[in-house]
Amino acid sequence: EKSECVSLSPMREAVPAPPECERVCVCGTGDLGRSLGLRLLQAGYGVVFGSRRPHSSSSLIPHGAQVLGHAAAAQSAHLIFIAVQREHYDFLVPLANQLKGKVLVDLSNNLRKNQYPEANAEYLQSLVPGAEVVKGFNTLSAWSLQNGPSDANRQVYICGESVEAKQAVMAVATKLGFSALDRGFLSVARELEDFPLQLFPQWRLPLYIATGLSAAFFFYLLIRDIIYAYVTQGKDISFRIIVSLANKVLATGPRCVCFCVCYQLFKVGVWVCSRQVCPIVSLIMLSLCYLPGVLASFLQLYRGTKYRRFPDWLDRWMLCRKQLGLLALGFAFLHVLYTLIIPIRYYGRFKATEHTVSVIRENRTTEFDTTTAWRGDSYLSLGILGFSLYVLLGITSLPSVSNVLSWREFSFIQSKLGHLTLLLCTAHTYLYGWNKFLSSSTYKWYTPLGYMLCLVLPSVVLLLKLLLITPCVDRTITRIRQGWERRADQ
Ligand code: HEM
Repeated sequence: EKSECVSLSPMREAVPAPPECERVCVCGTGDLGRSLGLRLLQAGYGVVFGSRRPHSSSSLIPHGAQVLGHAAAAQSAHLIFIAVQREHYDFLVPLANQLKGKVLVDLSNNLRKNQYPEANAEYLQSLVPGAEVVKGFNTLSAWSLQNGPSDANRQVYICGESVEAKQAVMAVATKLGFSALDRGFLSVARELEDFPLQLFPQWRLPLYIATGLSAAFFFYLLIRDIIYAYVTQGKDISFRIIVSLANKVLATGPRCVCFCVCYQLFKVGVWVCSRQVCPIVSLIMLSLCYLPGVLASFLQLYRGTKYRRFPDWLDRWMLCRKQLGLLALGFAFLHVLYTLIIPIRYYGRFKATEHTVSVIRENRTTEFDTTTAWRGDSYLSLGILGFSLYVLLGITSLPSVSNVLSWREFSFIQSKLGHLTLLLCTAHTYLYGWNKFLSSSTYKWYTPLGYMLCLVLPSVVLLLKLLLITPCVDRTITRIRQGWERRADQ
């Protein structure tokens, strides 16, 4: 199959083909086919493109490659990349005899999952039964092929029935600088074709949790802080609601009363609630990062062995801890931003000036309250320390950073410093609450404040962790992790 490469197209950016080079065929002159052809040329292969209209395609193809009709191109090489859409595969049917024993690499993808009853590669195999079909390269985009593996995903998945055919394709992938992984027989092709259709699969559960928690706390705080004030006092923030409601009723009649109430409540509620929702959701999600680890340790303690699988739900939960943590960090960022702009808000400046003016007018003196100052400084310092460690956790979870850390360094930061972050943020919130926990006026409609609710989970996680690090429990768990198993009679 080896022959001298002859170029039919002008060599402007000459990619010199070696005098003796292996020739491969790429059927299809679209973006993907052209990018693959270019990389093959750069890796030293002779490339022949197969096209329906070879004459009109020759201006598009990379310099140094040939363009022929499909039949002639397929004839000229043993390894043929099929870079055309599945709907156009029928051009291969008349070539079935010619393709006997040749390796066909199916690069295709679909627009959605389950678009066809069988995988494209299996369909291709049924059209050309004498050929060795291999599914592969479909997880790479034209962009990543053009930029090369240094700037893109390096992994190439391969599957097919023939071991020799797969080896030939894997050799090409390796020569192009990708790392190829044999995923098994052609029946895996459907799974490989579904890969590029997945949209952030590991982010789905954390995103659902974040959305659910935000919505739940938003409505909880809206009812507790805004609607409560409106119903019981009819002044303060609800003052504005009443005025604009009255205007609306006069202007447009009572039909839109309901709409107006909802709209005004929402408008006032958005600021108050989102300011509180962000830190609350952040703290709960940070605890959700550490809860599965603690549960897994207790499960190992209970079972007395590490050689039994965790339940599926726990496995899935542990796998999305990084995404949970990064989302939690995002919410913490929003909390810090909201906090930073409090002093420049018109409402805050107005209240402060009003207070000063009333003190002067009434000729009052105010005492400096050392306890309030101490409490304020403490909860702010704990918040700042907690947030700094939070950012450190986020940075070290990025692959480019975690790759340069040893396992011991990584687990020190993510486990020890992670629990310390949870402790600091929880203490920040406890100190912020201070004596409000004991005051009955806090519990409007017998409901606790939002941050009191959000403290439940982190407190439980920290208590369980405290139990785990007590010397006798820690000793047992360390032995289990080193392979020791409790006998049935122990
Ligand atoms: C509340 C500051 C980091 C969790 C507060 C408040 C301030 C504050 C000023 C009172 C907010 C208000 O009056 O509306 C800070 C600063 C931080 C920081 C300066 C770091 C630079 C964090 C972190 C967490 C957190 C990392 C954990 C996720 C909370 C919670 C509340 C709170 C749960 C109670 C929210 C409420 O219901 O009002 N923080 N914080 N904070 N903070 Fe932080």
